[in-house]
Amino acid sequence: MKPNILDTHLLYKNYGPSVALDGVSLGIEAGDAVAIMGASGSGKTTLLHCLAGIIRPDGGHVDFATAQGPLRVSSLSESRRSQLRRESFGFVFQQGLLIPELTAIENVAIALMLTGAPRPAAEQSAAAWLAAMGLQGLEARRIGELSGGQAQRVAIARAQVTGASVIFADEPTGALDSATSNEVMDVLLDSTVRSSKTLVLVTHDQSVADQCRRIIQLRDGRIVSDSDTATADANRPDQASLTGRTQ
Ligand SMILES: Nc1ncnc2c1ncn2[C@@H]1O[C@H](COP(=O)(O)OP(=O)(O)O)[C@@H](O)[C@H]1O
Ligand SMILES: [Mg+2]
Repeated sequence: MKPNILDTHLLYKNYGPSVALDGVSLGIEAGDAVAIMGASGSGKTTLLHCLAGIIRPDGGHVDFATAQGPLRVSSLSESRRSQLRRESFGFVFQQGLLIPELTAIENVAIALMLTGAPRPAAEQSAAAWLAAMGLQGLEARRIGELSGGQAQRVAIARAQVTGASVIFADEPTGALDSATSNEVMDVLLDSTVRSSKTLVLVTHDQSVADQCRRIIQLRDGRIVSDSDTATADANRPDQASLTGRTQ
């Protein structure tokens, strides 16, 4: 078994009266492909955002394994979390993040320039990533001049160009037809889990989830099933009540 790159312990998050996360404990192995599934409102995006340090949980913690030891993401300041996201994590969302006024290559290069890389070097890396995504020749197109699948491949290149070790994807194929969805999943898996990076993906599409090694189901902010059964056991409500939590 590989070491965990991310660990969460009893994550809780409320938005006013609505409970988004209700005690989620989860370890994610380095190099794994993990799909998070569940009905709309079950807490998938909230869990992803806690894992990635976009938001801080109300309770519990998130640890990210670094060469210097575990980093408690959930305790970092906004600016340190922002730095961590820029340098160590990549993001692919259903839409957004790409800047429509910029070309494909500029959209990818900007992620590197935000970490301090000079523009020529950033554009060189961006071109290599676009080529790896099968987008050679489309570097100078603006995002609006690309198909949905091509734009998602630009987003994947952008997420990876900084050398991020973990890629977080929230409904990355949500706006695509099934043939395009398969193509996008293929480049996403090739460039992450098949290249020893970690992929954490939120989807409500079973055929997308089935391409990941591990599938976790959320309901009402809790893990209700996990294809790695050992973790499912630790999250069963009866186990939670044994450790003193009330319903
Ligand atoms: N920023 C927010 N403000 C208020 N409520 C929110 C916010 N984000 C999420 N929620 C609520 O938290 C619950 C979980 O949301 P979310 O994590 O987005 O679920 P999913 O991604 O599974 O659809 C839902 O009830 C949702 O309405
Ligand atoms: Mg969501």
